[in-house]
Amino acid sequence: MPESAIRFLLANDIRELFPPQEIAVKKGVLEGRSLVVASPTASGKTLIAELAALKHILEYGGKVLYLTPLRALATEKFYSFSKYKELGVKIALSTGDYDTDDPWLGEYDWIITTNEKTDSLLRHKAKWLKSITLVVADEIHLIRDPKRGPTLEMVLARLRKLNSKTQMLALSATIRNAKEVASWLKAGLVKTEWRPVILKEGVYYLDEIYFNDETKTPVTRAFSNPIENLVVDCLSKRGQVLVFASTRGSSVSLARKLSNRTRQFLSSDERRELAILANKILSLEKNRISEMLAEYIRNGAAFHHAGLSHSVRKLIEDAFREMKLKVICATPTLAAGVNLPARRVIIADYRRYNPELGFFEPIPVLEYKQMAGRAGRPQYDRYGEAVLIARSIEELDYLMENYVFAKPERIHSQLASEKILRTHVLASIASDYAKTELDLLNLLKLTFYAYQFEIENLQSIIRRNLEYLYSNNLIKLLDGMFESTSLGSRVSQLYIDTDTAILIIKGLKKRPIATPFAYLHLIALTEDIPKLHVRKREVEKYENILELRGGELLIEEPLDEDEYALYLSSIKTAKLLEDWINEVLDDQLIIEYDVGPGDIYSITQTAEWLVYSASELAKETGLYSHIARLLELRQRVKHGVKPELLELIKIRGIGRVRARILYENGFKSIEDLRKASLKELSKLPLIGPKLAKSIKEYIDGAIKEIVIGPTSGESIEDYF
Ligand SMILES: Nc1ncnc2c1ncn2[C@@H]1O[C@H](COP(=O)(O)OP(=O)(O)OP(=O)(O)O)[C@@H](O)[C@H]1O
Ligand SMILES: [Mg+2]
Repeated sequence: MPESAIRFLLANDIRELFPPQEIAVKKGVLEGRSLVVASPTASGKTLIAELAALKHILEYGGKVLYLTPLRALATEKFYSFSKYKELGVKIALSTGDYDTDDPWLGEYDWIITTNEKTDSLLRHKAKWLKSITLVVADEIHLIRDPKRGPTLEMVLARLRKLNSKTQMLALSATIRNAKEVASWLKAGLVKTEWRPVILKEGVYYLDEIYFNDETKTPVTRAFSNPIENLVVDCLSKRGQVLVFASTRGSSVSLARKLSNRTRQFLSSDERRELAILANKILSLEKNRISEMLAEYIRNGAAFHHAGLSHSVRKLIEDAFREMKLKVICATPTLAAGVNLPARRVIIADYRRYNPELGFFEPIPVLEYKQMAGRAGRPQYDRYGEAVLIARSIEELDYLMENYVFAKPERIHSQLASEKILRTHVLASIASDYAKTELDLLNLLKLTFYAYQFEIENLQSIIRRNLEYLYSNNLIKLLDGMFESTSLGSRVSQLYIDTDTAILIIKGLKKRPIATPFAYLHLIALTEDIPKLHVRKREVEKYENILELRGGELLIEEPLDEDEYALYLSSIKTAKLLEDWINEVLDDQLIIEYDVGPGDIYSITQTAEWLVYSASELAKETGLYSHIARLLELRQRVKHGVKPELLELIKIRGIGRVRARILYENGFKSIEDLRKASLKELSKLPLIGPKLAKSIKEYIDGAIKEIVIGPTSGESIEDYF
């Protein structure tokens, strides 16, 4: 390792290598050897990647791509690696916008990103990808995910094809067939069972936790709910607890219940700090969900799920790290790779409802091990405990055998799906990676699928996909070579499903112009957007809307019953989006549609992307009459406003609520605000002197620049 890196690590309390790290070094991780590291949770896999990355960057001027399965995890890693900026390493986080090759990333040494973002960069043929010398695939067991696993496989295959010398580092705590993954990647294998702190796994039954090391811990049975007993027991020994619930609803109800127990463990200082945190959350967003959350937080417990916004989730995690919060009740998304100081992890339910099958089924061992592994992280605790709950002696035996002592499942490639493979076939052709069926097969030979199964199995799937793409004018055949049509390239770059693109084009062709609701319904019908479930009691309501407004829509009601259910749920989604752009307040949306702020954010963000894609597809197919309307709609969906606020919303610090206040008080444009006095603005509700000043400064600053000279005939509207 470079001297500067060693000094830096020592200063950051890394004094010696953990055994898996030592083995990785011995196996050549610092000499460019590809490795699969299969080693328990918290055993320090990340540092192996960090050592390799520093070596590449500081010694060879190499470039590192760090892949994670989740944006939240990418963000956590980015903050954690940012310390290396001190060594002159240029670190970037890239997870957003899918329609760009992000040339700016060419300047960076170490890029933390998601698999999907990398896929989109490959589709845009980002030139700098060729300079990558080290690829780290964190949480490689994602390969087993039916939806997202194939993308990871294809991304790794293409990165390898781009440069066969690239060093690959694949990390996971929970792969049983690590050897297979290693020989797929032509990599060495580091497999250990070592953990820096002891993780005791066990099952709670009646008055005791039965652990895997044959010890038993008594737990006082003061309450009828076992989770309350387990929490009180751990808090009384000064540990913190992370409870995994199987649904959002149960994470909230558990937090409510547990907040009655946590309060007695708070010092007066902690109460004060938690009150500050609660107020901070309320100042970020005030709605019934955040009010509930704030109330529980004051008492020391929080819930954590995807319905909450990212900033609120981060505040909760930080407060838990700072030991202010005693309990988090989370859905399993929090289980991937994060470091939190949980002495005890409680897995409240090992069964999960499968909506396709219509019944509850046991979760995979792999998922259980990931959740369990959040307990006992080295920088926080000396040991950790993961606890399942049994209601009978038979269940106790069952859980011991099938979870505590069980090994995670083998992982299998999920690539052999016609639908999933289709977008990758198009992408490979559109980005010139493949021109013939043979090229495609050769590329697929580099996937884990090809390693595990007969590649010939894929041949008929590929053929059917080629036919589909050809008949839908996404690819063409020239002298026996496939090429994407310009529509095909655009679809591939926009990172939308091929069916989505075809449906959107079909809808746009129906009429030269349409209402915002019709466009929103069109995109709500695609499979790229999350669907809102229509409850039994809501069916009539949405059927009425359909009856009233069906004439507006671009895609007609289907006859098939299953398709009809989806159609109705897209009416509901479109209605939510319509309310959103008509400035219905968050709180009302939350009540009306049973969603959280995090859902509103993810639905509107996806919708914005699809509306933008629709405008691009309109351009591509000569359906020009839609473009202006779609572009305006895009801005409205982005900000959640009526058209008249589009000018004001562009001012920094002004959201849709404040823009409306300005507008209603007569400040309808940038020009009005320029003329306004500071005093006038300060008096407005929710504006106040501080914001008024920054609005004025922003506008004066921007106008000054425009007076100096806009570069390409921009109007003031463009500027803002
Ligand atoms: N050599 C070391 N000395 C001291 N602390 C270390 C060392 N290596 C790693 N750690 C610390 O151990 C903690 C856990 O490491 P890390 O996050 O890499 O776990 P992991 O193996 O990736 O687990 P998971 O499978 O849960 O993601 C980190 O906080 C890290 O700072
Ligand atoms: Mg990790």
